[in-house]
Amino acid sequence: MGAVIADPWLEWAEHRPRPRVLHLDSAAAGRQSVATLDATAAQARLEAEMGACVAQEQVGEVLAQLRRDVAGLLGTPPDGVAFVESATAALAALFASWPLPDEPRVGVVAVEWGPNLEAFAARGFTIVDLPHDGTGRLDLGALEQQLADHPPTVVHLTQVTSHRGLVQPVAEAAALCRVAGIPLWVDAAQAIGHVDTATGADAVYATSRKWLAGPRGVGMVAIAAQHWDALRIRRSTMSPADLPAVAHLESHEAHVAGRIGLATAVREYLTLGSDVVNARLDEVGRLTAKALADIEGWAVVGGSTPGNGAITALRPTTGQDVFATRTRLLTEHGILTTAGSVARAPRDMQEPLLRISPHVDCTDEALARLVEALADR
Ligand SMILES: Cc1ncc(COP(=O)(O)O)c(C=O)c1O
Repeated sequence: MGAVIADPWLEWAEHRPRPRVLHLDSAAAGRQSVATLDATAAQARLEAEMGACVAQEQVGEVLAQLRRDVAGLLGTPPDGVAFVESATAALAALFASWPLPDEPRVGVVAVEWGPNLEAFAARGFTIVDLPHDGTGRLDLGALEQQLADHPPTVVHLTQVTSHRGLVQPVAEAAALCRVAGIPLWVDAAQAIGHVDTATGADAVYATSRKWLAGPRGVGMVAIAAQHWDALRIRRSTMSPADLPAVAHLESHEAHVAGRIGLATAVREYLTLGSDVVNARLDEVGRLTAKALADIEGWAVVGGSTPGNGAITALRPTTGQDVFATRTRLLTEHGILTTAGSVARAPRDMQEPLLRISPHVDCTDEALARLVEALADR
């Protein structure tokens, strides 16, 4: 069987360091390109040569372009973007700055990312279930009714589910929330670089390291312009007086070299064409689910429906230990996957799942190797 891989995806792989494993784990962290790694390293080096602050001033235009690019991806003006350390830090920044009533209620779908549920509970939110269609996908008709009858303070959607293949109809939900006057926050940690994240939501947050294949330690939050004046921002006298409100959410100290690396990773994504990459990732998800459909002892969660993105989860059907399987795949077969515990989505998962998340360079050979390794037990 010959490799059925279109040229841009072969090039995508060739622009990365040669992998020592079969990397099927982009939902944890994507493989950075050589140019991204070089850009990060060059900035770190410049800091040692020139002093950190001078080095930062010298790349001011690269950082400004990154802000414009990320703003375009998340659908806000550049002044609405703040860079932080991670998606988790971005959600914390939203909690700190968004004007909230004393007893806030957040509407979520059952597939919600577990650590987000914990963060909302810790911040005093009551969690309210949003209706879904049985597959975990938000039911838009029922949402409209719920927003009219019992609106929560905030609707929160994880646009691409982390533990299995599923993409929420965020743009449609944003339109309904706008009409109802309820803010929509979107966790785009698994969505940026993967699906269209410029959806009209009120706040969107994400991370560099997954589908954009940028450096670790860089996250971002984007807030729609109509909310800027109401944000609870602590303006420091150390900051320039004309600093945009949302930029006050950025930490004073930051992994600037990582942001410079991300600037390259985002440019690579945009140069390939976000629509083209997103379509390829959806195809990769379907190919993966199809290839894994008939392995004895494993069932694909949710099947291979188009539009579900590049993440596929396998459920053990004969009591296998998913964590031991993940270790066996890595140590005996050199295949990197994720074993996901129920805590990742406690309202959706009944058991741990094995997550497979290849990037655009996925091949039939790679999937065949995984199938063979899973069958060999
Ligand atoms: C859906 C989702 N949200 C949030 C996060 C947390 O991202 P970070 O590690 O950047 O805080 C993850 C990480 O896997 C995720 O999958």
